[in-house]
Amino acid sequence: MAFKIKVVESAGFCFGVRKALDRLIEIRNKTGAPVRTLGPLIHNEQVLEALKNRDVHELQKDENVAGTHVIIRAHGVTPEIRKQLMEQQARVCDATCPKVGQVQAIVKKYAQKKCPVIIIGDRGHAEVEGLLGYCGDCGIVVTGPGEAEKLVEGDEVCVVAQTTQDPLVFQQTLEIIKQKFLSCHEFNTICDATSERQAETRKLAEESDIMVVVGGKNSANTRRLADIAEKNCRTTMVQSADDLDPESFTGVHRVGITAGASTPAWVIREIVEKIRLLGWEREGWLPSFFYKCLVYFTRLPFSWAIGMALLCIAVVYTLTKQVPWLTAGTVGIMIWIWKSRGKRVNAGLDMGISGFLAIVSVCPLYGHVSEGVMILALIYLGVTYLNRLLLFDSLHVQADKISGHPTIPAVLCAEKCDLFLWVSIGVSALCALILSLAASEPLFGVFLFVPAGFVVFLGKKRRKPGWCDVRDVFLMDAPIWLASLGVIGLQALPV
Ligand code: F3S
Repeated sequence: MAFKIKVVESAGFCFGVRKALDRLIEIRNKTGAPVRTLGPLIHNEQVLEALKNRDVHELQKDENVAGTHVIIRAHGVTPEIRKQLMEQQARVCDATCPKVGQVQAIVKKYAQKKCPVIIIGDRGHAEVEGLLGYCGDCGIVVTGPGEAEKLVEGDEVCVVAQTTQDPLVFQQTLEIIKQKFLSCHEFNTICDATSERQAETRKLAEESDIMVVVGGKNSANTRRLADIAEKNCRTTMVQSADDLDPESFTGVHRVGITAGASTPAWVIREIVEKIRLLGWEREGWLPSFFYKCLVYFTRLPFSWAIGMALLCIAVVYTLTKQVPWLTAGTVGIMIWIWKSRGKRVNAGLDMGISGFLAIVSVCPLYGHVSEGVMILALIYLGVTYLNRLLLFDSLHVQADKISGHPTIPAVLCAEKCDLFLWVSIGVSALCALILSLAASEPLFGVFLFVPAGFVVFLGKKRRKPGWCDVRDVFLMDAPIWLASLGVIGLQALPV
């Protein structure tokens, strides 16, 4: 049997990382000027490489920063570094995660009272170093229960955690600290995104034969996820699909996947696809051959092009009882050329081409139907082509934003894009309904299935943001195929 693959719902960028990346991209797009980051913005080589191509680099020692945009990453920095940047007249953009900012405020408050501050976290980690900067000479780093045992007893202490700390390690360490101090001001500052991700990883590891932990080698939160998974099942840590070792999947049936807070959605998607392929290869050459065909069929993208050609045939055939072979073929080939190899163009061109394809599609209607019906069909087809495109592009929005592809979802922010999608799905549904009444053709009601199918997909996408494997592509194209074939079949089959 092929693998049963499950990915934790929280996999992918956390809120803080996404916010920092969005700020950086916003500055880069608005100003067009080079941007520098204090340390790597996230622990992911592919993202850093894509950013380098857009002149976004890590700030080098002794680099002149006067007038340069410098981003403080989600981990935050010490007040001294912030002051130095201001003195050097850098244009500082503070993308410190608000949750890290809260911890900084706590330690600062207690350090000002000269109360010792214990940070339960990784010595040398950027976030911990930043927190120490707010502690003055009151800060102590403790990595776990072992080091807590060695602490000298005292009167009063403040205890916080690195935001990505393992809750179990925090609790065990805290218990020991409490025995050593008369008064302990404890703050569980582990961020919700971290605890949720760790809890999900623990649960999935218990149900899986192997856990694949995706993330950067230097990422502390990814390492912790691997530690948690290791306690429950066989675990492998990878940065990209190329790191997967087929041997480690021997005897495995259930595969669990989790990812660190700075792992982009497209890396997770590539890994899911590679593991799925490994599973089919294990079944023999025939299932693996069919799976590969399926991947190429969707990726090239034949399923999209054929779906749109079928929709064109269904609309024209219903209104004229003639099959527009030439027009449908042209529409299909144009979509294939336009979108081959997953190419994503830009917002203006995409909208223009959708409109042009719709005009080509309704040409065979000329002289057969009224102008009103023709316009409705034009809007229906144009909006449906655009909706399919928007759904596909919104799954790639992270990669497009980072690499600077100005697709519609990348240009609009997430909320605006969702609103745009809902409105255009509503417009296509309305057009199908009016067409059905205006043309006195109840069969057009079947076309309502297309926008309804898109809504279902949108719901699924919301639960699994940013993923788009073979099955997701099929789910997007299925409403178009089913509605078109349904309408053609109902008319062509002898009653
Ligand atoms: Fe912030 Fe938590 Fe991410 S502290 S950077 S949301 S892991």
